[in-house]
Amino acid sequence: MPQKKTQLQKTKPKKKNTDRSILEEILRVDHAGEYGATRIYDGQIAVFGKNSKIGITIQHMADQEQEHIKKFNDLILKHRVRPTALLPLWNITGFTLGAATALMGERAAMACTVAVEKVIGEHYRKQQSLLEDDHKELKRTISKFEKDELEHHDIGIAHEAEQTPGYKVLSKFIEIGCKTAIAVSKKI
Ligand SMILES: [Fe+2]
Ligand SMILES: [Fe+2]
Repeated sequence: MPQKKTQLQKTKPKKKNTDRSILEEILRVDHAGEYGATRIYDGQIAVFGKNSKIGITIQHMADQEQEHIKKFNDLILKHRVRPTALLPLWNITGFTLGAATALMGERAAMACTVAVEKVIGEHYRKQQSLLEDDHKELKRTISKFEKDELEHHDIGIAHEAEQTPGYKVLSKFIEIGCKTAIAVSKKI
């Protein structure tokens, strides 16, 4: 009898799979977010030019965003996830936000980066806990992107983002905008 019990205890717990609806939300919102990020940096580069000192720094981040959006483009196709219907909105909103902050100056442009990347970094960190072992590779991808976003955040801080006049109001405004965009892009 006791032997039987030991055998039962040895049976491995069944692997949990990620809910399909959670996977869909993750891929939809990350695809939307990365698309928005590319548009923000496009807007900033349109103002600063890509050969200016600040333009070169922004281009480095923009190149990483291209890598991120490319990966999510592949993933939504692979997993047959519908992209958000709001891409045309994020196209315009992202570009406008980037260009508007760039027009306010280099520090304001970097304040925009700090606010956006802070929200995205946190968002990526939370997402990793929603994925089960059936999506280990996606987890690794998100973890890598989280590190990139936090690097962008730190670049912004290093470029005196916090010295932007009205920094607190501007960053709160952008953070709330990003969180709203995340909430709607999961579903719509
Ligand atoms: Fe990104
Ligand atoms: Fe980023």
